[in-house]
Amino acid sequence: MLPLTSASFLFSFLLVVSLANSQSFIGVNYGQVADNLPPPSATAKLLQSTSIQKVRLYGSDPAIIKALANTDIGIVIGAANGDIPALASDPNFAKNWVNTNVVPFYPASKIILITVGNEVMTSNDQNLVTQLVPAIKNVQNALDSASLGGKIKVSTVHSMAVLRQSEPPSSGRFHPGMDSVMKELLGFNNATGSPFAINPYPYFAYTSDSRPETLAFCLFQPNSGRFDPNTNIRYMNMFDAQLDGVRSALNSLRFKDVEIVVAETGWPYKGDSNEVGPSLENAKAYNGNLIAHLRSKVGTPLMPGKSVDTYLFALYDEDLKPGPASERAFGLFKPDLSMTYDVGLSKSTNQAPPVASPKTPVNNPSPKTPVNNPAPKPQKKAVWCVPKAGVSDAQLQANLDYVCGHGVDCSAIQPGGACFEPNTVASHAAYAMNLLYQTAGRNPWNCDFVQTATISSNNPSYNGCIYPSGST
Ligand SMILES: *[C@@H]1O[C@H](CO)[C@@H](O)[C@H](O)[C@H]1NC(C)=O
Repeated sequence: MLPLTSASFLFSFLLVVSLANSQSFIGVNYGQVADNLPPPSATAKLLQSTSIQKVRLYGSDPAIIKALANTDIGIVIGAANGDIPALASDPNFAKNWVNTNVVPFYPASKIILITVGNEVMTSNDQNLVTQLVPAIKNVQNALDSASLGGKIKVSTVHSMAVLRQSEPPSSGRFHPGMDSVMKELLGFNNATGSPFAINPYPYFAYTSDSRPETLAFCLFQPNSGRFDPNTNIRYMNMFDAQLDGVRSALNSLRFKDVEIVVAETGWPYKGDSNEVGPSLENAKAYNGNLIAHLRSKVGTPLMPGKSVDTYLFALYDEDLKPGPASERAFGLFKPDLSMTYDVGLSKSTNQAPPVASPKTPVNNPSPKTPVNNPAPKPQKKAVWCVPKAGVSDAQLQANLDYVCGHGVDCSAIQPGGACFEPNTVASHAAYAMNLLYQTAGRNPWNCDFVQTATISSNNPSYNGCIYPSGST
Protein backbone atom coordinates (compact mmCIF):
# COMPACT_ATOMS: atom_id res chain seq x y z
CA MET A 1 0.00 0.00 0.00
CA LEU A 2 1.29 3.46 -0.84
CA PRO A 3 1.96 5.82 2.03
CA LEU A 4 -0.80 8.39 1.98
CA THR A 5 1.45 11.28 1.13
CA SER A 6 2.61 9.48 -2.02
CA ALA A 7 -0.96 8.62 -2.83
CA SER A 8 -2.03 12.22 -2.64
CA PHE A 9 1.03 13.32 -4.57
CA LEU A 10 0.16 10.76 -7.23
CA PHE A 11 -3.36 12.07 -7.26
CA SER A 12 -2.22 15.67 -7.85
CA PHE A 13 0.20 14.46 -10.48
CA LEU A 14 -2.55 12.65 -12.37
CA LEU A 15 -4.73 15.73 -12.16
CA VAL A 16 -2.00 17.92 -13.63
CA VAL A 17 -1.26 15.41 -16.39
CA SER A 18 -4.89 15.20 -17.36
CA LEU A 19 -5.15 18.98 -17.58
CA ALA A 20 -1.96 19.24 -19.59
CA ASN A 21 -3.07 16.66 -22.15
CA SER A 22 -4.36 17.89 -25.45
CA GLN A 23 -8.07 18.52 -25.44
CA SER A 24 -8.57 17.91 -29.11
CA PHE A 25 -12.06 16.66 -28.34
CA ILE A 26 -13.38 20.18 -27.65
CA GLY A 27 -14.60 22.02 -30.72
CA VAL A 28 -17.07 24.80 -31.41
CA ASN A 29 -19.54 25.68 -34.15
CA TYR A 30 -19.05 28.96 -35.95
CA GLY A 31 -22.42 29.81 -37.43
CA GLN A 32 -22.56 33.02 -39.43
CA VAL A 33 -26.26 33.86 -39.67
CA ALA A 34 -25.49 37.21 -38.08
CA ASP A 35 -24.66 40.78 -39.01
CA ASN A 36 -22.54 41.64 -35.98
CA LEU A 37 -19.72 39.09 -36.02
CA PRO A 38 -16.18 40.17 -35.17
CA PRO A 39 -13.56 40.16 -37.94
CA PRO A 40 -12.08 36.73 -38.74
CA SER A 41 -8.68 37.68 -37.28
CA ALA A 42 -10.31 38.53 -33.95
CA THR A 43 -12.16 35.22 -33.95
CA ALA A 44 -8.92 33.36 -34.67
CA LYS A 45 -7.25 35.12 -31.72
CA LEU A 46 -10.19 34.40 -29.47
CA LEU A 47 -10.09 30.69 -30.31
CA GLN A 48 -6.37 30.58 -29.60
CA SER A 49 -6.98 32.04 -26.14
CA THR A 50 -9.19 29.06 -25.29
CA SER A 51 -8.75 25.31 -25.01
CA ILE A 52 -10.99 24.90 -28.09
CA GLN A 53 -9.02 22.88 -30.65
CA LYS A 54 -11.46 22.59 -33.52
CA VAL A 55 -13.97 24.80 -35.25
CA ARG A 56 -16.83 23.79 -37.49
CA LEU A 57 -17.99 26.11 -40.27
CA TYR A 58 -21.30 25.48 -41.99
CA GLY A 59 -19.86 26.68 -45.29
CA SER A 60 -16.35 27.41 -46.47
CA ASP A 61 -15.84 31.14 -45.87
CA PRO A 62 -12.29 31.74 -47.16
CA ALA A 63 -11.75 34.70 -44.80
CA ILE A 64 -12.12 32.62 -41.66
CA ILE A 65 -10.27 29.62 -43.15
CA LYS A 66 -7.34 31.92 -43.95
CA ALA A 67 -7.46 33.60 -40.56
CA LEU A 68 -7.04 30.18 -38.94
CA ALA A 69 -3.87 29.40 -40.92
CA ASN A 70 -0.93 28.26 -38.78
CA THR A 71 -3.00 28.15 -35.61
CA ASP A 72 -3.15 24.34 -35.45
CA ILE A 73 -6.91 24.66 -34.95
CA GLY A 74 -8.69 21.88 -36.84
CA ILE A 75 -11.30 23.13 -39.30
CA VAL A 76 -14.47 21.40 -40.48
CA ILE A 77 -15.93 22.91 -43.64
CA GLY A 78 -19.30 22.22 -45.17
CA ALA A 79 -20.80 21.81 -48.62
CA ALA A 80 -24.35 23.18 -48.61
CA ASN A 81 -27.42 21.02 -49.21
CA GLY A 82 -27.98 23.09 -52.35
CA ASP A 83 -24.66 21.85 -53.78
CA ILE A 84 -25.53 18.18 -53.35
CA PRO A 85 -27.27 17.63 -56.73
CA ALA A 86 -24.33 19.10 -58.67
CA LEU A 87 -21.74 17.31 -56.50
CA ALA A 88 -23.58 14.03 -57.04
CA SER A 89 -24.07 14.28 -60.78
CA ASP A 90 -20.86 15.96 -61.88
CA PRO A 91 -17.41 14.77 -60.73
CA ASN A 92 -15.90 17.96 -62.15
CA PHE A 93 -18.15 20.08 -59.96
CA ALA A 94 -16.76 18.16 -56.98
CA LYS A 95 -13.18 18.69 -58.22
CA ASN A 96 -13.81 22.40 -58.60
CA TRP A 97 -15.32 22.51 -55.14
CA VAL A 98 -12.22 20.95 -53.61
CA ASN A 99 -9.89 23.05 -55.77
CA THR A 100 -11.66 26.23 -54.65
CA ASN A 101 -12.41 25.53 -51.00
CA VAL A 102 -9.62 23.23 -49.84
CA VAL A 103 -6.51 23.16 -52.01
CA PRO A 104 -5.54 26.88 -51.72
CA PHE A 105 -5.62 26.75 -47.91
CA TYR A 106 -4.36 23.31 -46.97
CA PRO A 107 -2.21 22.43 -45.01
CA ALA A 108 -1.54 25.89 -43.49
CA SER A 109 -5.20 25.90 -42.56
CA LYS A 110 -5.75 22.55 -40.92
CA ILE A 111 -8.90 21.36 -42.67
CA ILE A 112 -9.77 17.98 -41.15
CA LEU A 113 -13.27 17.18 -42.34
CA ILE A 114 -15.71 18.12 -45.09
CA THR A 115 -19.36 17.68 -44.21
CA VAL A 116 -21.49 17.25 -47.31
CA GLY A 117 -24.96 18.51 -46.40
CA ASN A 118 -26.57 19.17 -43.05
CA GLU A 119 -29.41 17.03 -41.65
CA VAL A 120 -30.27 15.78 -45.14
CA MET A 121 -31.65 12.42 -44.01
CA THR A 122 -34.41 14.14 -42.05
CA SER A 123 -35.02 16.90 -44.61
CA ASN A 124 -37.99 15.13 -46.24
CA ASP A 125 -36.38 15.84 -49.60
CA GLN A 126 -36.10 12.37 -51.11
CA ASN A 127 -34.20 13.72 -54.08
CA LEU A 128 -31.45 15.05 -51.79
CA VAL A 129 -31.43 11.87 -49.73
CA THR A 130 -30.77 9.68 -52.76
CA GLN A 131 -28.01 11.99 -53.99
CA LEU A 132 -26.23 12.25 -50.66
CA VAL A 133 -23.95 9.22 -50.96
CA PRO A 134 -23.01 9.88 -54.62
CA ALA A 135 -22.14 13.50 -53.66
CA ILE A 136 -20.00 12.31 -50.75
CA LYS A 137 -18.20 9.82 -52.96
CA ASN A 138 -17.44 12.45 -55.61
CA VAL A 139 -15.97 14.76 -52.97
CA GLN A 140 -13.85 11.86 -51.71
CA ASN A 141 -12.67 11.13 -55.26
CA ALA A 142 -11.83 14.80 -55.76
CA LEU A 143 -9.77 14.78 -52.56
CA ASP A 144 -8.04 11.59 -53.71
CA SER A 145 -7.07 13.21 -57.02
CA ALA A 146 -5.68 16.21 -55.13
CA SER A 147 -3.65 13.74 -53.01
CA LEU A 148 -5.63 14.76 -49.94
CA GLY A 149 -7.54 11.51 -49.49
CA GLY A 150 -7.13 10.21 -45.95
CA LYS A 151 -5.72 13.54 -44.74
CA ILE A 152 -9.13 15.14 -44.90
CA LYS A 153 -12.20 13.03 -44.17
CA VAL A 154 -15.65 13.34 -45.72
CA SER A 155 -18.96 12.83 -43.97
CA THR A 156 -22.38 14.42 -43.44
CA VAL A 157 -24.24 15.65 -40.34
CA HIS A 158 -27.41 14.10 -38.92
CA SER A 159 -30.09 15.28 -36.55
CA MET A 160 -31.14 12.94 -33.74
CA ALA A 161 -34.39 12.46 -35.68
CA VAL A 162 -32.63 9.78 -37.75
CA LEU A 163 -33.28 7.58 -34.71
CA ARG A 164 -36.71 6.03 -34.52
CA GLN A 165 -36.00 5.08 -30.95
CA SER A 166 -33.31 5.96 -28.45
CA GLU A 167 -34.65 5.03 -25.02
CA PRO A 168 -33.44 3.02 -23.32
CA PRO A 169 -30.08 3.60 -25.04
CA SER A 170 -29.55 -0.08 -25.86
CA SER A 171 -32.69 -0.01 -28.01
CA GLY A 172 -31.39 2.81 -30.24
CA ARG A 173 -32.31 2.14 -33.88
CA PHE A 174 -32.52 4.16 -37.08
CA HIS A 175 -35.81 4.66 -38.87
CA PRO A 176 -36.30 1.50 -40.90
CA GLY A 177 -37.12 3.56 -43.99
CA MET A 178 -33.60 5.02 -43.88
CA ASP A 179 -31.81 1.73 -43.53
CA SER A 180 -30.64 1.30 -47.10
CA VAL A 181 -29.17 4.81 -47.45
CA MET A 182 -27.85 4.65 -43.89
CA LYS A 183 -26.03 1.39 -44.64
CA GLU A 184 -24.43 2.91 -47.73
CA LEU A 185 -23.38 5.97 -45.76
CA LEU A 186 -22.00 3.90 -42.91
CA GLY A 187 -20.25 1.65 -45.37
CA PHE A 188 -18.51 4.77 -46.66
CA ASN A 189 -17.69 5.98 -43.12
CA ASN A 190 -16.35 2.53 -42.26
CA ALA A 191 -14.25 2.19 -45.39
CA THR A 192 -12.68 5.66 -45.19
CA GLY A 193 -12.42 6.04 -41.39
CA SER A 194 -14.65 9.10 -41.43
CA PRO A 195 -16.93 9.79 -38.47
CA PHE A 196 -20.69 9.53 -38.11
CA ALA A 197 -21.56 13.12 -37.16
CA ILE A 198 -24.76 13.85 -35.25
CA ASN A 199 -26.41 16.63 -33.22
CA PRO A 200 -27.60 15.43 -29.79
CA TYR A 201 -29.38 18.14 -27.80
CA PRO A 202 -30.36 17.23 -24.24
CA TYR A 203 -31.90 20.72 -24.30
CA PHE A 204 -34.60 19.59 -26.72
CA ALA A 205 -35.18 16.46 -24.68
CA TYR A 206 -35.89 18.73 -21.73
CA THR A 207 -38.17 21.11 -23.65
CA SER A 208 -40.37 18.11 -24.52
CA ASP A 209 -40.36 16.76 -20.94
CA SER A 210 -39.85 19.64 -18.54
CA ARG A 211 -39.83 17.86 -15.19
CA PRO A 212 -37.18 18.91 -12.65
CA GLU A 213 -35.82 15.35 -12.64
CA THR A 214 -35.32 15.55 -16.42
CA LEU A 215 -33.59 18.91 -16.07
CA ALA A 216 -31.08 17.50 -13.57
CA PHE A 217 -30.50 14.50 -15.88
CA CYS A 218 -29.91 16.85 -18.83
CA LEU A 219 -27.63 19.24 -16.91
CA PHE A 220 -25.30 16.55 -15.47
CA GLN A 221 -26.59 17.34 -11.99
CA PRO A 222 -27.36 14.83 -9.24
CA ASN A 223 -30.43 12.77 -10.15
CA SER A 224 -31.64 9.25 -9.71
CA GLY A 225 -30.54 8.27 -13.21
CA ARG A 226 -32.30 6.15 -15.82
CA PHE A 227 -31.90 2.43 -15.82
CA ASP A 228 -31.44 0.45 -19.02
CA PRO A 229 -32.82 -3.00 -18.23
CA ASN A 230 -31.17 -4.62 -21.27
CA THR A 231 -27.65 -3.72 -20.19
CA ASN A 232 -28.16 -3.11 -16.45
CA ILE A 233 -26.54 0.29 -16.92
CA ARG A 234 -27.87 3.22 -14.96
CA TYR A 235 -27.42 6.37 -17.06
CA MET A 236 -26.67 9.46 -15.03
CA ASN A 237 -26.97 12.08 -17.78
CA MET A 238 -28.84 12.62 -21.04
CA PHE A 239 -25.72 13.30 -23.13
CA ASP A 240 -24.35 9.80 -22.45
CA ALA A 241 -27.79 8.28 -22.94
CA GLN A 242 -28.23 9.97 -26.32
CA LEU A 243 -24.75 9.01 -27.50
CA ASP A 244 -25.22 5.41 -26.45
CA GLY A 245 -28.57 5.39 -28.26
CA VAL A 246 -26.65 6.37 -31.40
CA ARG A 247 -23.96 3.79 -30.64
CA SER A 248 -26.60 1.07 -30.34
CA ALA A 249 -28.16 2.06 -33.66
CA LEU A 250 -24.75 1.90 -35.37
CA ASN A 251 -23.95 -1.42 -33.71
CA SER A 252 -27.29 -2.87 -34.75
CA LEU A 253 -26.24 -2.34 -38.39
CA ARG A 254 -22.89 -3.95 -37.43
CA PHE A 255 -20.84 -0.76 -37.76
CA LYS A 256 -19.15 -1.10 -34.39
CA ASP A 257 -15.96 0.65 -35.55
CA VAL A 258 -17.50 3.78 -37.02
CA GLU A 259 -16.65 6.62 -34.68
CA ILE A 260 -19.27 9.12 -33.50
CA VAL A 261 -18.65 12.86 -33.57
CA VAL A 262 -20.97 15.32 -31.84
CA ALA A 263 -21.31 17.97 -34.53
CA GLU A 264 -23.53 20.19 -32.38
CA THR A 265 -24.74 20.35 -28.83
CA GLY A 266 -25.61 23.31 -26.65
CA TRP A 267 -28.09 25.14 -24.47
CA PRO A 268 -29.54 28.64 -24.96
CA TYR A 269 -28.95 31.18 -22.19
CA LYS A 270 -32.17 33.08 -22.80
CA GLY A 271 -35.45 32.71 -24.62
CA ASP A 272 -38.96 34.09 -24.98
CA SER A 273 -41.02 34.26 -21.81
CA ASN A 274 -43.04 31.21 -22.91
CA GLU A 275 -39.98 29.02 -23.47
CA VAL A 276 -39.07 26.45 -20.83
CA GLY A 277 -35.40 25.68 -20.38
CA PRO A 278 -33.35 28.64 -21.61
CA SER A 279 -31.54 30.47 -18.81
CA LEU A 280 -28.07 31.65 -18.01
CA GLU A 281 -27.88 29.22 -15.11
CA ASN A 282 -28.96 26.21 -17.20
CA ALA A 283 -26.72 27.09 -20.13
CA LYS A 284 -23.74 27.51 -17.84
CA ALA A 285 -24.49 24.25 -16.04
CA TYR A 286 -24.95 22.28 -19.26
CA ASN A 287 -21.89 23.56 -21.08
CA GLY A 288 -19.69 23.72 -17.98
CA ASN A 289 -20.58 20.21 -16.85
CA LEU A 290 -20.34 18.86 -20.39
CA ILE A 291 -16.83 20.26 -20.77
CA ALA A 292 -15.83 18.81 -17.39
CA HIS A 293 -17.36 15.46 -18.41
CA LEU A 294 -15.38 15.48 -21.66
CA ARG A 295 -12.19 16.42 -19.84
CA SER A 296 -12.66 13.56 -17.41
CA LYS A 297 -12.37 11.18 -20.39
CA VAL A 298 -14.72 8.82 -18.62
CA GLY A 299 -16.59 8.43 -21.88
CA THR A 300 -20.04 6.86 -22.03
CA PRO A 301 -21.00 3.45 -20.63
CA LEU A 302 -20.86 1.91 -24.12
CA MET A 303 -17.80 3.92 -25.18
CA PRO A 304 -15.71 4.13 -22.02
CA GLY A 305 -12.29 5.66 -21.54
CA LYS A 306 -12.33 8.37 -24.20
CA SER A 307 -14.27 11.46 -25.06
CA VAL A 308 -16.04 11.83 -28.39
CA ASP A 309 -15.07 14.90 -30.37
CA THR A 310 -17.72 17.44 -29.44
CA TYR A 311 -18.45 20.71 -31.21
CA LEU A 312 -20.23 23.06 -28.84
CA PHE A 313 -23.05 25.12 -30.27
CA ALA A 314 -22.08 27.84 -30.63
CA LEU A 315 -19.23 30.32 -30.67
CA TYR A 316 -21.45 33.42 -31.07
CA ASP A 317 -25.13 34.24 -31.06
CA GLU A 318 -26.62 34.37 -34.54
CA ASP A 319 -28.85 37.43 -34.41
CA LEU A 320 -30.45 36.88 -37.81
CA LYS A 321 -31.79 33.40 -37.11
CA PRO A 322 -35.57 33.06 -37.31
CA GLY A 323 -37.71 31.33 -34.70
CA PRO A 324 -38.02 31.73 -30.92
CA ALA A 325 -35.57 33.98 -29.05
CA SER A 326 -33.62 30.93 -27.83
CA GLU A 327 -32.44 30.29 -31.41
CA ARG A 328 -30.48 33.54 -31.20
CA ALA A 329 -29.01 32.86 -27.75
CA PHE A 330 -26.67 29.87 -27.95
CA GLY A 331 -23.46 31.94 -28.11
CA LEU A 332 -20.62 31.29 -25.68
CA PHE A 333 -19.04 34.61 -26.64
CA LYS A 334 -20.36 38.04 -27.47
CA PRO A 335 -19.44 40.01 -30.58
CA ASP A 336 -17.09 42.09 -28.41
CA LEU A 337 -15.28 38.79 -27.62
CA SER A 338 -16.25 38.77 -23.95
CA MET A 339 -17.70 35.57 -22.52
CA THR A 340 -21.47 35.29 -22.33
CA TYR A 341 -20.85 33.18 -19.23
CA ASP A 342 -17.77 31.36 -18.01
CA VAL A 343 -17.52 27.63 -18.67
CA GLY A 344 -13.79 27.37 -18.04
CA LEU A 345 -12.61 27.39 -21.66
CA SER A 346 -10.11 30.19 -21.22
CA LYS A 347 -6.46 29.16 -21.26
CA SER A 348 -5.28 32.06 -19.11
CA THR A 349 -7.39 30.97 -16.13
CA ASN A 350 -5.98 27.45 -16.39
CA GLN A 351 -9.43 26.31 -17.46
CA ALA A 352 -11.06 27.15 -14.18
CA PRO A 353 -13.22 30.26 -13.91
CA PRO A 354 -12.87 32.28 -10.71
CA VAL A 355 -14.33 30.51 -7.73
CA ALA A 356 -16.95 32.63 -5.97
CA SER A 357 -15.45 33.94 -2.76
CA PRO A 358 -15.77 31.15 -0.26
CA LYS A 359 -17.53 32.21 2.88
CA THR A 360 -14.59 31.77 5.19
CA PRO A 361 -14.85 32.75 8.82
CA VAL A 362 -12.98 35.98 9.51
CA ASN A 363 -10.85 34.30 12.15
CA ASN A 364 -9.63 31.44 10.03
CA PRO A 365 -6.91 30.06 12.34
CA SER A 366 -4.40 29.19 9.61
CA PRO A 367 -5.07 30.96 6.36
CA LYS A 368 -2.75 29.67 3.66
CA THR A 369 -3.13 32.70 1.44
CA PRO A 370 -2.45 36.28 2.49
CA VAL A 371 -5.70 38.15 3.15
CA ASN A 372 -4.79 40.93 0.77
CA ASN A 373 -3.51 38.81 -2.07
CA PRO A 374 -3.84 41.26 -4.96
CA ALA A 375 -4.28 38.62 -7.68
CA PRO A 376 -5.58 35.43 -6.17
CA LYS A 377 -5.19 32.32 -8.27
CA PRO A 378 -8.26 30.46 -7.09
CA GLN A 379 -7.24 27.14 -8.62
CA LYS A 380 -4.12 27.08 -6.46
CA LYS A 381 -5.78 27.89 -3.20
CA ALA A 382 -6.65 24.92 -1.03
CA VAL A 383 -10.43 24.69 -0.99
CA TRP A 384 -12.81 21.81 -0.51
CA CYS A 385 -16.39 21.12 -1.48
CA VAL A 386 -18.42 20.21 1.61
CA PRO A 387 -22.10 19.47 2.28
CA LYS A 388 -24.10 22.38 3.67
CA ALA A 389 -25.41 22.03 7.20
CA GLY A 390 -28.83 20.44 7.59
CA VAL A 391 -28.87 18.45 4.34
CA SER A 392 -30.85 15.21 4.72
CA ASP A 393 -29.24 11.77 4.57
CA ALA A 394 -31.49 10.95 1.62
CA GLN A 395 -30.08 13.87 -0.35
CA LEU A 396 -26.54 12.99 0.68
CA GLN A 397 -27.14 9.40 -0.41
CA ALA A 398 -28.34 10.68 -3.80
CA ASN A 399 -25.16 12.75 -4.11
CA LEU A 400 -23.06 9.75 -3.12
CA ASP A 401 -24.78 7.49 -5.68
CA TYR A 402 -24.38 10.15 -8.30
CA VAL A 403 -20.64 10.66 -7.76
CA CYS A 404 -19.72 7.00 -7.43
CA GLY A 405 -21.88 6.08 -10.43
CA HIS A 406 -20.10 8.74 -12.44
CA GLY A 407 -16.73 7.12 -12.97
CA VAL A 408 -15.10 8.74 -9.93
CA ASP A 409 -12.85 6.46 -7.86
CA CYS A 410 -14.76 5.85 -4.62
CA SER A 411 -12.46 3.13 -3.28
CA ALA A 412 -11.31 5.26 -0.33
CA ILE A 413 -14.80 5.09 1.19
CA GLN A 414 -15.25 1.40 0.57
CA PRO A 415 -14.45 -1.18 3.29
CA GLY A 416 -10.70 -1.14 3.91
CA GLY A 417 -10.34 2.33 2.38
CA ALA A 418 -8.67 5.14 4.35
CA CYS A 419 -11.95 7.07 4.57
CA PHE A 420 -14.37 4.18 5.20
CA GLU A 421 -14.63 5.04 8.92
CA PRO A 422 -16.83 6.59 10.15
CA ASN A 423 -19.15 4.39 8.11
CA THR A 424 -21.95 6.93 7.71
CA VAL A 425 -23.74 8.35 4.70
CA ALA A 426 -22.76 11.87 5.76
CA SER A 427 -19.07 11.07 5.92
CA HIS A 428 -18.98 9.05 2.70
CA ALA A 429 -20.99 11.65 0.79
CA ALA A 430 -18.73 14.46 2.01
CA TYR A 431 -15.67 12.61 0.75
CA ALA A 432 -17.25 11.72 -2.59
CA MET A 433 -18.67 15.18 -3.27
CA ASN A 434 -15.30 16.80 -2.69
CA LEU A 435 -13.59 14.23 -4.91
CA LEU A 436 -15.97 14.98 -7.77
CA TYR A 437 -15.45 18.71 -7.33
CA GLN A 438 -11.66 18.34 -7.39
CA THR A 439 -11.57 16.01 -10.40
CA ALA A 440 -14.25 17.74 -12.48
CA GLY A 441 -12.31 20.98 -12.67
CA ARG A 442 -12.99 22.82 -9.39
CA ASN A 443 -15.55 25.06 -11.02
CA PRO A 444 -18.20 26.59 -8.76
CA TRP A 445 -20.87 24.51 -10.49
CA ASN A 446 -18.98 21.32 -9.67
CA CYS A 447 -19.81 22.06 -6.03
CA ASP A 448 -23.51 22.64 -6.33
CA PHE A 449 -25.27 19.27 -5.92
CA VAL A 450 -28.67 20.92 -6.21
CA GLN A 451 -27.59 23.57 -3.73
CA THR A 452 -26.64 21.08 -1.02
CA ALA A 453 -22.90 21.84 -1.09
CA THR A 454 -20.59 24.77 -0.59
CA ILE A 455 -16.92 25.61 -0.99
CA SER A 456 -14.88 25.78 2.20
CA SER A 457 -11.31 26.61 3.06
CA ASN A 458 -11.40 24.41 6.17
CA ASN A 459 -9.62 21.14 5.54
CA PRO A 460 -12.04 18.29 6.34
CA SER A 461 -9.27 15.64 6.35
CA TYR A 462 -8.95 13.55 9.49
CA ASN A 463 -6.63 10.82 10.79
CA GLY A 464 -5.46 8.93 7.71
CA CYS A 465 -8.26 10.18 5.48
CA ILE A 466 -6.98 12.92 3.20
CA TYR A 467 -9.50 14.98 1.27
CA PRO A 468 -7.80 16.13 -1.93
CA SER A 469 -7.65 19.91 -2.20
CA GLY A 470 -6.24 20.37 -5.69
CA SER A 471 -3.86 23.05 -4.36
CA THR A 472 -0.28 23.08 -5.53
C1 LIG B 1 -15.84 -2.22 -41.86
O1 LIG B 1 -14.53 -2.21 -42.41
C2 LIG B 1 -13.78 -3.35 -42.06
C3 LIG B 1 -12.34 -3.12 -42.53
O2 LIG B 1 -12.30 -2.62 -43.82
C4 LIG B 1 -14.41 -4.59 -42.68
O3 LIG B 1 -13.67 -5.73 -42.37
C5 LIG B 1 -15.83 -4.71 -42.13
O4 LIG B 1 -16.50 -5.80 -42.77
C6 LIG B 1 -16.62 -3.44 -42.37
N1 LIG B 1 -17.89 -3.53 -41.66
C7 LIG B 1 -19.07 -3.52 -42.27
C8 LIG B 1 -20.27 -3.73 -41.42
O5 LIG B 1 -19.19 -3.33 -43.45
